[in-house]
Amino acid sequence: MHEIEAAVIERAGVPTAVEDLLLDDPHPGEVLVRMTASGVCHSDLHVRDGDWERPGPIVMGHEGAGIIEAVGEGLDPGVVGRPVALSWYAPCLRCRQCQRGRQWLCTGSPSLRHAQVDGTTRLARADGSPVLAYCSIGTMSTRQVVPATAVVPMPDGVPPEVAALIGCGVSTGVGAVLKTAEVPAGSSVAVIGLGGVGLSCVMGAVLANAGRIVVVDTNRSKIDLAGTLGATHWVLADPADPAATIGGIREAAGEGGPDFVFEAIGLPQTIEQAISTLPPGGTAVLVGMTAFGETASFEGFPFVDGARRIIGSNYGSAAAALDFPRYAEWYLQGRLPVDRLIDRRLPLIELEDAFDRLRVGQAARQVVVFE
Ligand SMILES: NC(=O)c1ccc[n+]([C@@H]2O[C@H](COP(=O)([O-])OP(=O)(O)OC[C@H]3O[C@@H](n4cnc5c(N)ncnc54)[C@H](O)[C@@H]3O)[C@@H](O)[C@H]2O)c1
Ligand SMILES: [Zn+2]
Ligand SMILES: [Zn+2]
Repeated sequence: MHEIEAAVIERAGVPTAVEDLLLDDPHPGEVLVRMTASGVCHSDLHVRDGDWERPGPIVMGHEGAGIIEAVGEGLDPGVVGRPVALSWYAPCLRCRQCQRGRQWLCTGSPSLRHAQVDGTTRLARADGSPVLAYCSIGTMSTRQVVPATAVVPMPDGVPPEVAALIGCGVSTGVGAVLKTAEVPAGSSVAVIGLGGVGLSCVMGAVLANAGRIVVVDTNRSKIDLAGTLGATHWVLADPADPAATIGGIREAAGEGGPDFVFEAIGLPQTIEQAISTLPPGGTAVLVGMTAFGETASFEGFPFVDGARRIIGSNYGSAAAALDFPRYAEWYLQGRLPVDRLIDRRLPLIELEDAFDRLRVGQAARQVVVFE
C-alpha cells in the first residue's frame, strides 16, 4: 500500500481537488509507475467542464510518463527502473479490432471503464471508498497502478515531458496526418486550432512533406509558434466572421482549398468551417472532440458531387507499443520537436489554474511535473 497525492474530480463538471489517496500494489498483469510528468490536454478539460459524462470520483489525467517501480505477478521484474510513456487506451490484445491491428478501436479495453482489467481499482480514499483512474491511467497522480498494455518503454534521452506528450497530443496529431489520413507528399494541408493536438498535426504535416501548411487560430501567439514548426501560411480566425476564415484558408491553400483539413478544436462551428474549405476530392479529418450530443451540418449536394470525404481520427490511429517508440526516436533525431510545444511546467496543485488558461486558448501545452 502506498500513500499518494492525486487530482481527483468528484464527477464531471466540478473542480478538481488534490487529495491524499491510498494505492494498492499491482495485481497480476499490472504495473506500478512513479509519475514524472503529465500533460494538460483539452480532453481533461472536457471532463472538468462537464462536456463529457464520466463516472466518479476519478483521478484526472491521461497524458503521462513515469518510471516503473514494481510489476505484478507474471511480468518481468527486469523492467523496474525503466522510463515509460502511458497509453490512454490500454488494448485488450484479444478483441477483433486488436487482432486486426486497430488497437485504437479496441472493444475490450479496461480504459472504457477507467479501471483495471478485472474491473476493480487500486485506488481508495482513507475511508476505503474506491476511486477510479481516468482511462485506467489517471496520470495526475504521484504514483499510479496501470494495466501492463498501457505501458510503453521509452528510449534513453527522452525527457519526461516529451514522453508524456507522446502519450496523447503528439500521437493524436502526428498520427492523424501520417496514419489516419496518410497524407501524400506534396498535398496542401490546413490545421484549424493550434493547441497541443493541432501543433502536432503541423509537425505531422512537415514529416509527410506536405506542400503548403496553412495554420488557423484565434490566438496570434499560436500561429507564431506553428510558424517555427514549419507552417507556411496562416489565417487569424475571427469566430464572428466564419466566411472570412473559410475564404482565408482557401486562398492560402491555393487551388480552391486544402487537400486535407484537420479540425483540432471540437466545435460545431469550426467543424463546419473545415468541411466548407474543401475543394473537390478534399478530405476533412475530425480530430477535435465536441461535447456529447453536439452536431454539425453541411450541404449535401456539393459534398457528394465533389467526392469530398470526412474522416474521424481517434488517438491518431495509434498502436502505442509500435508508434510511441517511433515518435520518441524522431524526437531524438530532431525531426519531431515536441519540446517546443511545452510553454509551462507546473506543480499538481496548480491544475485548476492550468485549466483556466486552457479554456481561453492561452496555453500551447502545459505539463504537470512531479518531484
Ligand atoms: N481524437 C482524439 O483522439 C483526441 C485526442 C486528444 C485530444 N482530442 C481533442 O482535440 C481537441 C484539441 O485538444 P488540445 O488539447 O489541443 O486543445 P487546446 O484547447 O489546447 O487547443 C485548441 C486551440 O483552438 C483554438 N481555438 C478555439 N476556438 C477557435 C476558433 N473558433 N477558431 C480557431 N481557433 C480556435 C484555441 O486558441 C487553441 O489554440 C480537444 O477537443 C480534445 O478533446 C482528441
Ligand atoms: Zn488527450
Ligand atoms: Zn482489444
